[in-house]
Amino acid sequence: MRALVYNGPFDVTVTDVPDATIEAPTDAVVRITTTNICGSDLHMYEGRTGVEPGTVFGHENMGVVEEVGPGVTGLKVGDRVSLPFNIGCGFCANCVARRTGFCLTVNEEMAGGAYGYASMGPYRGGQAELLRVPFADFNALVLPEGTEHENDFTMLSDVFPTGWHGVELSGQRPGESVVVFGAGPVGLMAAHSAMLRGASQVFVVDKQPDRLALAEAYGCTPLDYSAVDVVEQLTDATGGLGVDRGVEAVGYQAHDASGDEDPALTLNQLFASVKATGGIGVVGVYLPQDPGAPTEDLKNGRIALDYGLFFSKGQTMGTGQANVKSYNRELRDLIVAGRAEPGKIVSHELPLEDAPRGYDQFDKRVDGWTKVLLKPAA
Ligand SMILES: NC(=O)c1ccc[n+]([C@@H]2O[C@H](COP(=O)([O-])OP(=O)(O)OC[C@H]3O[C@@H](n4cnc5c(N)ncnc54)[C@H](O)[C@@H]3O)[C@@H](O)[C@H]2O)c1
Ligand SMILES: [Zn+2]
Ligand SMILES: [Zn+2]
Repeated sequence: MRALVYNGPFDVTVTDVPDATIEAPTDAVVRITTTNICGSDLHMYEGRTGVEPGTVFGHENMGVVEEVGPGVTGLKVGDRVSLPFNIGCGFCANCVARRTGFCLTVNEEMAGGAYGYASMGPYRGGQAELLRVPFADFNALVLPEGTEHENDFTMLSDVFPTGWHGVELSGQRPGESVVVFGAGPVGLMAAHSAMLRGASQVFVVDKQPDRLALAEAYGCTPLDYSAVDVVEQLTDATGGLGVDRGVEAVGYQAHDASGDEDPALTLNQLFASVKATGGIGVVGVYLPQDPGAPTEDLKNGRIALDYGLFFSKGQTMGTGQANVKSYNRELRDLIVAGRAEPGKIVSHELPLEDAPRGYDQFDKRVDGWTKVLLKPAA
């Protein structure tokens, strides 16, 4: 089968690899119809993780069941499914508690497994024609058959639940104000989620005009951090009190207005702009090891937080991988009901063979390249 393979920093190619097959009785093989490039893939693409050359990328996958193992009972060949980027076993303490981002059995290195990702276990990614899905009964979410809503449903594997999770971690209640740092796919989905959950006002911070325009299209207030002092604007807009809730959707590769990387920037701006006793949800990624960073502390994931400010304001903060399975069923139904439109962020649909160009343009954040979908079956 054809698959997108990582060769080294800024170097990916589409090449032939062995077909995905049933390896355990509880596996299924899915023929991929849509698989997305994610901001998380860019951390690997830029050589900022320990990912091995030869890895097939792709954790945002959906498709049609091609084959099921003898231990699979709830899925049949031909079912249209969305696959959460987290791989869960379904029987460990964390999976039972719906914390499927931290499954205790699928990855020897740490709690939590995923397809095609650094340190997340031996699982091949789905930027390919076929994908092996472990514990398929537990992991696959069955979708209405056909092709309707394909570009909305493809957001169910990661960015829509992840954005929702960021808002959930912030503790948002109806009527509250929310600020989201980052208007990439994850930030835009957090903003859309906050609106769906009844926010009174949602501010979205970025500097990319195309992405800020999408935030506006979701009914949010855009703030361009290259043009204004974001903390000052947010403080003024809330009568000096600060915003009720904040979501971090940028991660450790945050840039300041002049383009220099500063991993503490958005967290410190959240501490400063969220109200005393407010809540913060961090879904942007921070890594315990960042071999490409410039200093010894940063190489070990130690960043300079204004912790005293955070403490003195009595804020709360939740972090981590999104537990996709906690939300994807209900978010699917919001799409079917016409209430949620996550597919509005899609900017490009490319054949799999064009994936290297997709990576290049998305990584350079070329204007208009907001969310790139790959269509291996096309
Ligand atoms: N927790 C999870 O489960 C999970 C899942 C998916 C993605 N992620 C992470 O979420 C983050 C965002 O993902 P994405 O796909 O939206 O990525 P992306 O790279 O497309 O988007 C990041 C956005 O942040 C903006 N940005 C950079 N510096 C900023 C600053 N100082 N202030 C405001 N905005 C700034 C960029 O312009 C860009 O638009 C990444 O770190 C990704 O790894 C986490
Ligand atoms: Zn992703
Ligand atoms: Zn588990």
